[in-house]
Amino acid sequence: MPDTAPLYEGKAKIIYPTDNPHILRSHFKDDATAFNAQKKGQIVGKGAINCAISAHLFRLLESQGIATHFIDQPSSNEMTVKSVSIIPLEVVVRNIAAGSLCQQTSLALGTALKFPLVDFYYKNDSLGDPFLSEARILLLELATLAQIEELRALALKINEILTTFFQDCGITLVDFKLEFGLDQSRQILLADEISPDTCRLWDQSATDPNDRVLDKDRFRRDLGNVEQAYAKVMERVLSHSV
Ligand code: TMP
Ligand code: ASP
Repeated sequence: MPDTAPLYEGKAKIIYPTDNPHILRSHFKDDATAFNAQKKGQIVGKGAINCAISAHLFRLLESQGIATHFIDQPSSNEMTVKSVSIIPLEVVVRNIAAGSLCQQTSLALGTALKFPLVDFYYKNDSLGDPFLSEARILLLELATLAQIEELRALALKINEILTTFFQDCGITLVDFKLEFGLDQSRQILLADEISPDTCRLWDQSATDPNDRVLDKDRFRRDLGNVEQAYAKVMERVLSHSV
């Protein structure tokens, strides 16, 4: 870990400056939180696993025309990234009903959705990351209408690429959360991470509804074998070339 003072520390990552003002170093932590940090713990080895999975998926997405903040992975739990101004929206794509969609609607867990659903949430811990309508995003000036449309189109394209990739790994991509940022020229870049912390991933070779869970729901719901599940995702992802 660099000995310079961090620019920012989040729940799962620490962001450090570099000699180049346009490049940052993102350090992935083993710390895990859930339910807006009301539940806290550690998943041993998570930082390195999420960094490796994210680096692989960013390379995959770049190879298919998605602009990301990813530059390089200089060590097991560190990534160099382009400096961006994060758009304070969590963009969630859902293919199968789970989590808050089941809590807030009559859809049963596991229902295949008729179309991929793109939901926006306010990235604001003190408000508990509430769901936002398009009108509320415009009202709060978090993004313009053109940017909302671009975010939706990017999220759906990323969903197609990742769904196909995970399918090849024997994993169903149930849902996931993305974050985007604006670079110096106001271009939208995919940022943050894509990992078992930010996706729901179900093992297609397991039939039991708890056994199939390979993501942070194991930590959220105290299902056990969290490290093993994360390691399984990494092994399968890294063995499928970009
Ligand atoms: P949800 O069903 O709780 O709304 O979560 C949808 C997806 O977003 C799921 O894959 C987990 C991910 N997610 C995050 O990455 N960070 C969060 O803070 C939350 C609430 C969900
Ligand atoms: N990232 C969230 C938190 O702790 C919650 C989650 O992933 O469930 O606040």
